[in-house]
Amino acid sequence: MTKYVINGGNPLYGEVEISGAKNAAVAIIPAALMVEGVCRIENLPNISDVSTLLSILKEMGADIRVVNKRTIDIDCSRVRAPRATFDRMQRIRASYYLIGALLGRFGSAYVAMPGGCNFGGVRPIDQHVKGFTAMGASVSVKNGIVQAVTGDKLRGATVYFDVVSVGATINIMLGAALAEGSTYIENAAREPHIVDLANFLNSMGADIRGAGTNAIRIRGVRRLNGGFYSIIPDQIEAGTYMAAVAGAGGRVVIKEVIPKHLECISSKLREMGVTVVDLEDSVIVQRTDPLLRTHLKTMPYPGFPTDMQPQISTVLCIAEGTSIVTEGVWDNRFKYVDELTKMGSSIRVTERTAIIEGVPYLTGAPIKAGDLRAGAALVIAGLCARGETEIEGVSYIERGYEKMVDKLSALGAEIKSIYVPDEPQLEEKEIG
Ligand code: EPU
Repeated sequence: MTKYVINGGNPLYGEVEISGAKNAAVAIIPAALMVEGVCRIENLPNISDVSTLLSILKEMGADIRVVNKRTIDIDCSRVRAPRATFDRMQRIRASYYLIGALLGRFGSAYVAMPGGCNFGGVRPIDQHVKGFTAMGASVSVKNGIVQAVTGDKLRGATVYFDVVSVGATINIMLGAALAEGSTYIENAAREPHIVDLANFLNSMGADIRGAGTNAIRIRGVRRLNGGFYSIIPDQIEAGTYMAAVAGAGGRVVIKEVIPKHLECISSKLREMGVTVVDLEDSVIVQRTDPLLRTHLKTMPYPGFPTDMQPQISTVLCIAEGTSIVTEGVWDNRFKYVDELTKMGSSIRVTERTAIIEGVPYLTGAPIKAGDLRAGAALVIAGLCARGETEIEGVSYIERGYEKMVDKLSALGAEIKSIYVPDEPQLEEKEIG
């Protein structure tokens, strides 16, 4: 087991470079399955979700060549069967994008049910199923395998989502790119990575209009051709470092970002008394004065992102006054609060709302990450706290953050990753 050990209290100074967006990469890699020829994908983040997905594609028969540490070539012409039923599919949520990609390419898909972060509630895929069904697929789940079958190809259709879903929007867009006729997605999600996937597919020959709005039109084409594509910077990784500076204090230039994607985060931080200056492809974040309380509700883009909720809530633990944070996307995304309580925070959670009474400081404690963004939030808590914090469960963090320990150390944080051998178990099974 690996743990992070943080000695808190150091303000952060310097520059940090943001990696490619995880949630764009995990959509674009499956999309490569639909391309005839070689896809060169640049600015790939070096995180475990990406390597898991690449190894799944490899097992399916894809040729993957590493060009340099951020660039790969993928050639899926030797993938022959629409089947991805490996155990490791359970490790990542985005494995469900293989359904759309395989349906698009082969007209059928057999894909293991996705896993991924579990914040405590259910993560349904009914909207994905509704969309594929409208497009002529018959979808069922048997023995943990999603089976989606058409007579020959998906057919274009109008798909109206009952909830705004990033995953369902992406999955239908994938299938529709090679479907017969046109597909209209209504009440689509508008996140930057949806636009990035549309740009990727269009650069390979797809015909997609309206990505970034809530109405997307996809005219199916006969084939997609190989090409080059560079993934956008990670909005949430950038936001996480912005929150870290807000919490720990200091001044950091956050480089290789699209400031427009960060507006929802920057404006909240400004309300909290943090200075955020937008430059062309970087933002400067500076915090010298005490933090002010604020209220926020997470919403689909361009609202405040749910994937930044744990990090900002953590910073609000040391802001003056009472803040109210409402989770508007997921049913249960406050499990990490128990860990912050061990560090002296004062938070009361009722259903989807957390009432945070600011305290003057947090104190270091042994704590455990239960999911990716909660893990990032606990790192921020450790940076702000007095004394030593030891974080378990860091494999969650490494699913989505490239070299977080190195990046924070370069900014002056006292953080290290240590390997602790697991205690011997009597039996090799999960207990409890
Ligand atoms: N929902 C349904 N039915 C569906 C799909 C979603 O009811 O068929 C509901 C969900 O229960 C949730 C809401 O719709 O309440 C939004 O879910 P969405 O489908 O948008 O989430 P997702 O696609 O499974 C992606 C990100 C998450 C991020 C959410 C919301 C990926 C791989 N994951 O998940 O990112 O929280 O969108 O923005 O893109 C993360 O990066 O840490 C992460 C969890």
